[in-house]
Amino acid sequence: MLFTSILSCLLLLSPGGALARAAPRDNVLDKRLSYTNVADFETFETPIALAGLYANIGPDGSKSQGAKSGVVIASPSTSNPDYLYTWTRDAALVYKYIVDRFTSGRDSSLRTKIDNFVGHVARIQQVSNPSGTVSTGGLGEPKFLISEAAFTGGWGRPQRDGPALRATTLIAYANWLIANSNTTHVRNVLWPILLLDLNYVSNSWNSTGFDLWEEVNGASFFTTAVQHRALREGIALATALGDPSSTVAAWTTQAQNIFCFLQSYWSSSSGFIVANVNPGNGAIRSGKDANTVLTSVHTFDPAAGCDSRTFQPCSDKALANLKVYVDSFRSIYSINSGIASNAAVATGRYPEDSYYGGNPWYLTTFAVAEQLYRALQVWDAEGKGINVTSISLPFFQQFNSSATVTTIPAGSASYTTLTTAIKTFADGFALKGAQYAPSSGALAEQYTRGAGTPTSAADLTWSYASVLTMFDARDNLAVDGWGAASLTLPNTCSTGGGGGSAATVNFRETATTVWGENIYLVGSIDALKNWDPNNAIGPLDNTNTYPVWRVSVSIPAGTYFEYKYIRKNNGVVTWESGSNRVNTAPAAGATLTINDTWK
Ligand code: NOJ
Ligand code: NOJ
Repeated sequence: MLFTSILSCLLLLSPGGALARAAPRDNVLDKRLSYTNVADFETFETPIALAGLYANIGPDGSKSQGAKSGVVIASPSTSNPDYLYTWTRDAALVYKYIVDRFTSGRDSSLRTKIDNFVGHVARIQQVSNPSGTVSTGGLGEPKFLISEAAFTGGWGRPQRDGPALRATTLIAYANWLIANSNTTHVRNVLWPILLLDLNYVSNSWNSTGFDLWEEVNGASFFTTAVQHRALREGIALATALGDPSSTVAAWTTQAQNIFCFLQSYWSSSSGFIVANVNPGNGAIRSGKDANTVLTSVHTFDPAAGCDSRTFQPCSDKALANLKVYVDSFRSIYSINSGIASNAAVATGRYPEDSYYGGNPWYLTTFAVAEQLYRALQVWDAEGKGINVTSISLPFFQQFNSSATVTTIPAGSASYTTLTTAIKTFADGFALKGAQYAPSSGALAEQYTRGAGTPTSAADLTWSYASVLTMFDARDNLAVDGWGAASLTLPNTCSTGGGGGSAATVNFRETATTVWGENIYLVGSIDALKNWDPNNAIGPLDNTNTYPVWRVSVSIPAGTYFEYKYIRKNNGVVTWESGSNRVNTAPAAGATLTINDTWK
C-alpha cells in the first residue's frame, strides 16, 4: 500500500518537477481512477483487490464478521441488495483464484485459507436445504447463510454450475497436493467431497436449472461448459487415484454427452453463442450474454489452442461471439455513446437486463479483456499464426476492414499490426474499470449506464477476483489445462449437436380418469404433433401403472419443447389448465424421464 501510494505520487510529478494537484484517495464516488495504461492500473489495483477479497472471507475477514471459516460472502452489502450470503458460484470462482495464486508459488500463506474452504465445503454439502438433501439434489442449492445454515426464502433454484465450479477449484488444489507428495490427504479429505459434486454433475447435467444470473430456468451455456470441464478433470483425477473403473466409465459417458450438447448453443445462422437454449420460464432474450465470455475465460485450456469445440478464447466461434456480445451494449448505455464502433465499451450481463437498472458490470467488462489477453497469449505461444475463418472474419475486420479469410503468418508485419491492435482493444476494456471505479479502487457489482457511478452491491468479492484474473491473463501467467486438447467429439453430434440425432423422453402423467376416458400428449414440435389434438400421441399406456399414463417419444437432442396432456372422452377434448409445460430433450442417445400430474 505504502509502496503504491509513493508510486502514484511520483506519477503525479509533472515533467518540470512541480507536484500536480493530487486528489485524496478516498471513497468519494465522483472521484475516479484515471489510469491511461493498464500496467499502472494493475500496480495500484492489485493490493486493493487482494485486500478486498480477503476482507470478505471468514472467519477473520474484516468485512465478513459472523462468516464461518472458509465462507466467502458475496458482498458486505446488507440492503439494496442484501448480499450477506455465500453463493456457491461466487465462492468457487474466488477460491479458484486463491488456489491458483497458491499453487503458482506466489503466496504460500494461502494454504490455511484453502484448507478452511475445504472444511467449509465438506460441511455445507451436508446441509439440507430447499433444493434437497446431499443425496436428493441439495448440492444444487445456490446460496446459504454465512453461518452455513440453509437459506429458506424463495430463489431461482437449483443452479447446477455451483458443484462443478467448486470441483474445478478443489481439483486444482488436489493436483498440487499430489504433485507435492500428499496423495493421502487428497484421498481422505478431498476425494469424498469431489465424489459428491462430480456424481451430482454426472447425474443431473441434463436436468433444467437456473442460469448463473439466477433468472432463466433451462439449460445455460456457462453451466454446461463448466460441468463438462469439471467432469473431464474429475475423470483424470479418479484415474490418477486408481478409483473404480465403473466411476470413470460412467463419467466418461456423460462427459461425452455434455460435450455433444455443448455444441448446440452455437447458432451458425446468427453467428454467436446463444446463452440459454431453452428459456423455460418464458424470458424473451436475444441470447447475447456475458455468460458466454465468462465461459471462454473459465474453461480456458492453454494446451487446446484455438479449439472451437470447447470455445477456447482464440477460437473463431468465441471471437465472433465476443464481437456480437460487446456490440450489443454500444447503443444502449449512454456512457458508451460517441465511442468508435471498434473501440472498447462498458459491457453488462446481457442487453435486456434490468436488475438495478440494468447496468454495466465490472466483472463482465474485465472478462472481455481477459478473453482477449488469453487469445493473444495462445497465438504468441503457438506461433502458428492467426487463422481467420469465415466465422471470425467480422471480429478481425474491426481491426482491419480489408481482412480476409486466411492464415496470417506468425511474425509477419500484419501479425504484429493485428495483435497490437487487439491488445489495445483489450486494454480498453481493462481501463473501463479504472475509468469507472472510485479513487479508492473499490469495486462494486455494477456501474451506472448513464454516469458510470458504482452501484448495487459494494465490494463485490467476485469483482475483485475478476480484476485479478484479468491481470494474470495480461501477464501471460500460466494456468493448468483440463484436457480440452485431447477430446474426441462423438460422431452423433458432428453436425452441430442439438438437431443431429435423437434423445429419448419418457413422459409419465399421473391422472385419474373415468370409464372410457383416455390421456393423450400433444406439444409444440413435430415429434409432439404440433399442438394438434386430433393427431395427439396416445392413448398413453397405463398397463400395470394406472393412474400413471406412459409414453416414450424420440425427440431431436437438445430441442426445447412445450407440451400438455389432454383427456379424450368420446371425442370430447379437455386440456390441462394453466401454462404450457416446458422441457428440453437431452443429448443424443440420452434419456430424460418427466413425471407430471394432471393439472
Ligand atoms: C437476484 C439475482 O441475484 C439477480 O441475478 C437477478 O437479476 C435478480 N434476483 C432478479 O431476478
Ligand atoms: C447476482 C448475480 O447475478 C449472481 O451471478 C451472483 O451469484 C449473485 N449476484 C451474488 O454475487
